[in-house]
Amino acid sequence: MKDLIRVAIIGATGAVGRRMMAELEHYGIPAAVSLYASSRSAGEMLKFRGEELRVKAFDINSFKGYDFALMSAGGAFSKQYAKDIVASGCAVIDNSSAWRMDDQVPLVVPEVNSHVLKTFKKGIIANPNCSTIQLVVSLKPLAQKFGLDSVNVATYQSVSGSGQKGMEELKRQQEAAVNADPVVAVQYAKPIHNNLIPAIDVMREGGHCFEEEKMVRETRRIMEIPDLPMYATTVRVPVMNCHSEAVTVSLSREVSRQDVMAVLANAEGINFRAEDDYEAFPYPNTIVGRRDVWVGRVRLPLDQKLARVVQYWNVADNLNKGAATNAVQILKLLL
Ligand code: A2P
Repeated sequence: MKDLIRVAIIGATGAVGRRMMAELEHYGIPAAVSLYASSRSAGEMLKFRGEELRVKAFDINSFKGYDFALMSAGGAFSKQYAKDIVASGCAVIDNSSAWRMDDQVPLVVPEVNSHVLKTFKKGIIANPNCSTIQLVVSLKPLAQKFGLDSVNVATYQSVSGSGQKGMEELKRQQEAAVNADPVVAVQYAKPIHNNLIPAIDVMREGGHCFEEEKMVRETRRIMEIPDLPMYATTVRVPVMNCHSEAVTVSLSREVSRQDVMAVLANAEGINFRAEDDYEAFPYPNTIVGRRDVWVGRVRLPLDQKLARVVQYWNVADNLNKGAATNAVQILKLLL
């Protein structure tokens, strides 16, 4: 028991919290784990390494004795408690957007910018936005090899990105449709069943939604290209789990299709699909539970053999690489 690190998962009953438990197991993190959620879930039993663990109601007054907290309990919770949790002697890896643009808080994707953790002592580390993580894993090797001049991305984001409530909403609406009952929207502004919602999170200045703002600002920060021209359109789609992205990049020099494919095929964290074949493309419903980012459909502009503009398709499990896997990979780096 002595060599075990003490890890608290806060938000353990949520969609990401449950995956955090699975990822601690998968990576063999030598941890004594405690589970926290709201008082609604206190007493619920969840399985970790074959053992039933009791979920405790989070209470800052009794929270102490942990080395690390893996948090996925929402931005408001993080803003309120993260600093007090750090003051209890615990490093926080936070999945919410609360601290991501704070200069003092590292924003980390291990394949891309793990060097920012070199000077980290105790404090908060931010886990980036889910669609940003899978994007930067694919941008990094291209930027490194060819230079990156601009990024244009359209996302197709699954309902699990809204947590347990998003998944319940799609399921409920699908069942209502089958039963010819009214399809009622609760979690989203409009029904997500048989529909697309062309903005995610609250609306911000100039017609951008907050998800687009997060993607642009976080990508610039993680890639360390503060003025990177970047254009995002984020869309919620009626897919249960896994986000997809249509990406168009402009590189600093002309490349062949083969040049780009060779770089992506050898990049860390990428499962590259070279074949121009429906059997081989990455699909959201075939990569559920995977930890890597799947990239395929690489192409140059029509009729060009060399170009600076490249398009590709990118899919990842947003609960894994987009959230829990990335958080546990950060923890692993710290150990
Ligand atoms: P609970 O299940 O008790 O509501 P999701 O993102 O899937 O909606 O999950 C959010 C997670 O954050 C859940 O585990 C939820 O617990 C937890 N949570 C939400 N608010 C609080 C809070 N004030 N204190 C502790 N945990 C919270």
